[in-house]
Amino acid sequence: MLFERRHLLGLEGLSAEEITFLLDTAESFKEVSEREIKKVPTLRGRTVVNLFFESSTRTRTSFEIAAKRLSADTVNLTASVSSATKGETLTDTARNLAAMRPDAIVVRHPSAGAPHLLARHVDCPIINAGDGAHEHPTQALLDLLTIRERKGRIAGLTVAIVGDLLHSRVARSNLYGLRTMGAHVRFVGPTTLVPPYFAELGAELVNDLHEGVRDVDVIMMLRIQRERMNGRYFSSLDEYSRLYCLSVDAVKKAKEDVIILHPGPMNRGVEISSTVADGPYSVIMDQVTNGVAVRMASLYVLVGRRREVEVEETSEQTVREGSASATRPASAPSAAMPLRRAATAE
Ligand code: NCD
Repeated sequence: MLFERRHLLGLEGLSAEEITFLLDTAESFKEVSEREIKKVPTLRGRTVVNLFFESSTRTRTSFEIAAKRLSADTVNLTASVSSATKGETLTDTARNLAAMRPDAIVVRHPSAGAPHLLARHVDCPIINAGDGAHEHPTQALLDLLTIRERKGRIAGLTVAIVGDLLHSRVARSNLYGLRTMGAHVRFVGPTTLVPPYFAELGAELVNDLHEGVRDVDVIMMLRIQRERMNGRYFSSLDEYSRLYCLSVDAVKKAKEDVIILHPGPMNRGVEISSTVADGPYSVIMDQVTNGVAVRMASLYVLVGRRREVEVEETSEQTVREGSASATRPASAPSAAMPLRRAATAE
């Protein structure tokens, strides 16, 4: 399959085939991180810019490790050192970066739509690493990969996403991805954080935690995004945790082989108890490991593979020009071969 998209801005609108392709590619890259020398030459000579206008440790580090394992050069720009603090517009920042000819820009921004704006002004691939409360596609892909690995499938599963749905880009991207892959999604939380209109997105809405996790295959806990809250959504954090903190008791309502995810950073004792977070159903560390593989796959598909396909197409064109009997169409790249080569060549 050929991933035709230039950017990875969200999971909304991606087909099941496209998502499966990204997950399969990520799976094939996992092996690189198990080696003693964790590096393949796939993106040698390419430059990946990590442009972060919001604080982030896990996601930025994960992208940086992913790019380095593909041998790309990485440049990290954070809001405190970027020109945004000096009044430069995002478009000007983008144009200036583009003039330095990066091969991909990974961007996190507090405003929904910022990566889409960048994509209109630069001619390299843009990867959305989280835009406001809108989307966080690589997080949802790593969640999907973790679920698929543990459950052997995604279709037919019931997934409860619990907590601050209102402010969560993780929840939105997961909703799109999970539904496209055939899962049933429940949004669980107080009405202030799970407003009734969310039902229009195709999720089942449940207010009670114990009801919400009943018989589910997967529970995904979300952090209370205090930095995005400018109103009062519950009377106190104490009351919130009394009603919505995932305890051992609540987990018992789910299926016996339930798995528990959290994108991090976790607020222990607020949305998840330590016993559950560190317990036998938790796959939180798998998520972190899978994050690197998913980001390697995203960079490879948008930067490395595209280039391989272009090179292939150019040489085919040369062959066609030289010989009227060239048969393979330019649109049929040998997908498996370059991937295996990329993932195993040292
Ligand atoms: C998430 C994010 O930034 O949206 N975290 C992450 O990507 N590691 C979730 C969160 O901040 O709660």
